[in-house]
Amino acid sequence: MTTTIDSAPWAPGRLPGIGHAHLLLDDPIPLIRRLPDVGPVVRVGLGPRPVYLVTTAELLRSIGLGTAGRFHRDDLIEPVAPFAGRTLVTLSGDDHRRRRRLIAPAFHRNRISAYSPEFGRIAEDWVARLPVGEPIDLVPEVDRLALETLIATLIAADLGEQARSTIQSDSPLLLAEAAFRTLMPRPLRRLRPAAERRFLTASARLRGLLRDIVAQYRTSGTDHGDLLSTLVTGVDPGTGESLDDETIIDEMVGFLMGGVESPSGMLVSFVHELVRAPEVRDKAVAEVDEVIGDRPVRAEDATALPYLRTVLQETMRLWAPWINMLTADGPVTLGDVTVPSGTMVGFSANMIHHDPSYYPEPERFRPERWSDPEAELVDQSAVVPFGVGARRCPGDHFSWAQLTLQAAALLRTRLPVLPTQDVGRAVGSTTKGVGIRPSTARVVLYPRR
Ligand code: HEM
Repeated sequence: MTTTIDSAPWAPGRLPGIGHAHLLLDDPIPLIRRLPDVGPVVRVGLGPRPVYLVTTAELLRSIGLGTAGRFHRDDLIEPVAPFAGRTLVTLSGDDHRRRRRLIAPAFHRNRISAYSPEFGRIAEDWVARLPVGEPIDLVPEVDRLALETLIATLIAADLGEQARSTIQSDSPLLLAEAAFRTLMPRPLRRLRPAAERRFLTASARLRGLLRDIVAQYRTSGTDHGDLLSTLVTGVDPGTGESLDDETIIDEMVGFLMGGVESPSGMLVSFVHELVRAPEVRDKAVAEVDEVIGDRPVRAEDATALPYLRTVLQETMRLWAPWINMLTADGPVTLGDVTVPSGTMVGFSANMIHHDPSYYPEPERFRPERWSDPEAELVDQSAVVPFGVGARRCPGDHFSWAQLTLQAAALLRTRLPVLPTQDVGRAVGSTTKGVGIRPSTARVVLYPRR
């Protein structure tokens, strides 16, 4: 039986005018985790506008695979346009499909093998510069690592110090503001004129800089083995079409939007979990010692550390993105509920990953659930850190290689330990756009070599 949209219950805690914005902007997790008990489709208020959030893996898949109906991302265009133009994330339908095909070579297995030595080299240098023997918060350090890694993989050519430092300093501000604007109703944004001005100025500066870099690549014609070279030389085999300069800039910004905060949040979460589970840490360290030993990490290590992979997989389960939103393009059927065109629909991988009907003892950090024989019992439809279907993250293999090499580089020479004064102390979580991570990652790193 199909019922009307009004039959979907509201999530608890709604306030007049702002809906659930106060709960979502503060810490969305307590609200999100309660939703499976409310129903398979639950209304959550983003300001006055409801989002219909699905709470089962089956309904999540029906959105990702398109069996629920068609969706678009037009609602995201305006908030991020000054920064990102029309990047993959905001394209829909045929335009989205064509763009996915055009950027696919940048994430091909061979390309990732070519980026991996750089992942390893940057991670080794990063570890060597971290202070040892005293408590530090790894969050800003990991943020820097993720940004440096993405910029180096995106643009391998020598940019000059000034260009590199402009990208490094503008990107965090732009990423934070772009993420904020996607959740913030437009009238509320007008209340922050100074932030608006900063966003527009920094967006224009960054795009101007990227325009110059694309022009240099076109003139030199050199393949630097980086993401940008793939975009500059990429041709759609079906149509012979290639990307123009503005589209290339849009996609470079799109990679910055997708490729910095998610991997960085995941590495922060990995360290957070590891120092609270010394037996897991010691097992991962033993594997790293056996496989890598005294030498620096190498590209091939990315696929040679099966236990570390289960630790990262468990981290991705616990710290998966908290929200993903689309807009119905025509009527959309979510189980028993049909919503009309223009309705906002969403899901939370984080919620599915914490649902005890998919994962026994979901709050426990247990990498063993990803090793045989237990792994065979995991319902694969509920493994969704990178999404599902046409919009599934194109950076998934890229992230696996990067995170594995970074984690291995860290454990090879350092033993991360929870500072004694933090034992038993709770750590909150922070959202960064669609991502969620521990708000701090305080550790002491002891030298091992
Ligand atoms: C652990 C790291 C990462 C996680 C957990 C992650 C997760 C996600 C998720 C959940 C989506 C949305 C899928 C959907 O809409 O169904 C997504 C999309 C996307 N991600 Fe990632 N991502 C990660 C790393 C990366 C990296 C390293 C890059 C690029 C270098 C990247 C680029 C993108 C892009 C361009 C999209 C938009 C895809 C589209 O709309 O077609 N991501 N990611």
